[in-house]
Amino acid sequence: MPMKENFLWGSATASYQCEGAWKEDGRIASNWDTYLHDNHYENGDVASDFYHHYKEDIAMMKKGGQNAYRFSFAWPRIVHEDGTINTKGLDFYHRIIDECHRNAIEPFVTLYHWDLPEYLEAKGGWLNRDTCDAYLKYAEICFREFNGEVKYWTTFNEPKWIVVSGYLVGNYPPAVQCAAKTVQAAYHMMLASAMAVKKFRELNIAGTIGIVHSYSPVNGVDNTSSTRAAMRYADNFMNNWVLDTAAKGEIPADLLDALKEKKICLSFMKEADLKLIQSQHVDFLGLNYYARALIKPYEGGETSLIVNNSGSKAKGCTTTRIKNWFEQVRDPNSEYTEWDTEIYPKGLYDGLLMANKRYHLPMYITENGVGMYEDVSAGIVKDDYRISFMNDHINALMNAMDDGADVRGYFAWSSFDLYSWKNGCEKRYGLVAVDFKDQNLKRFPKKSYMWYRSVIEKNGGNILRKSYK
Ligand code: NOJ
Repeated sequence: MPMKENFLWGSATASYQCEGAWKEDGRIASNWDTYLHDNHYENGDVASDFYHHYKEDIAMMKKGGQNAYRFSFAWPRIVHEDGTINTKGLDFYHRIIDECHRNAIEPFVTLYHWDLPEYLEAKGGWLNRDTCDAYLKYAEICFREFNGEVKYWTTFNEPKWIVVSGYLVGNYPPAVQCAAKTVQAAYHMMLASAMAVKKFRELNIAGTIGIVHSYSPVNGVDNTSSTRAAMRYADNFMNNWVLDTAAKGEIPADLLDALKEKKICLSFMKEADLKLIQSQHVDFLGLNYYARALIKPYEGGETSLIVNNSGSKAKGCTTTRIKNWFEQVRDPNSEYTEWDTEIYPKGLYDGLLMANKRYHLPMYITENGVGMYEDVSAGIVKDDYRISFMNDHINALMNAMDDGADVRGYFAWSSFDLYSWKNGCEKRYGLVAVDFKDQNLKRFPKKSYMWYRSVIEKNGGNILRKSYK
């Protein structure tokens, strides 16, 4: 069965990854600018230069049949250190939103996709409770400014990924490796999300508000009780602290017990804040799906977390082991990308059914895609692997919908090639190629863009269906 008529078919980007113009029109430094510049890493100073190419890019979405565009506001474009509002920053997002509306594209806005103003990072970033208040002020500015123009809001993009990368693995700013700080930053981010939801309701903002989670549905290597216990640890670590907290106002109690066992002090969790978290629930879940997590028990060794940010040069290095909790393992029957991401569409089906059962909320797949090395200098990119990846994942979500999951939209990651954080620009996800070597950053559609257009035209009716039963 094809999708309902109002299904959102779109694609997604994030401010720091595509905008460039890092010093233009009053934008101030973000934590990413400082971290990448100071360490001489590849940066997003220019990225895809969406700041100047947005008309062309949105026109391309329109021509591709897309009816929704997920993007983020850059906080460093909007609020200066002394609290003044940078109207030029707001004007930029008005231009984007107006352009979307002119093209009958629904804007789907993320308030925070990882670019924190550097002045807040300098004062402790997400370890500092004051950052929650600063975030609330920023969210309120955006709600008031764009009320009526944006119907879909999300508070945060992927708290799990950014907190674990920034405070535990240490491969993202602020490059800390400390379990206690990870928990503190995580808590503050979830608190800030709940504070924004409360404000959204108080201001009676038109539309609906959710959160976006990097969803890793958990599978076990077998069905023994020790594997099931490891799976619960993994699910708490990977999913539940975001989803249970945002959707039900409950921080998993057994996770808090397990943290206490690890001698992590939780005194920063204040009664009044916990009450606020309990009382504020999101309207919908945005789920970014790349892969599931296959889990086995891990009793013997030390915690070890390694992320492959170097592609083929480091293929196979990825490690996720948490002392006494769980270990993530590879499935010998699965295919993995050069960045060690398993390709496992059925995980999306399983995950959607699990989330549906647990939270009973509308869901949007806010990101799904595959990162590859691609030669964009030789004409059209014939990315058949991306077509087959997207086909199989859209099939998985259709199967989940057939079995009762309330899924209302799908966003391909990404609308066009962009800067992929520590992986730089060579890890490409776009439906549209960007030639980063070309002075004008020339764009041209890949084969998957045309294919996606035909899928949207038929409202999913031409997806090659496979049943899992
Ligand atoms: C999720 C993040 O939201 C996005 O910023 C990132 O580039 C993609 N995953 C791909 O890794």
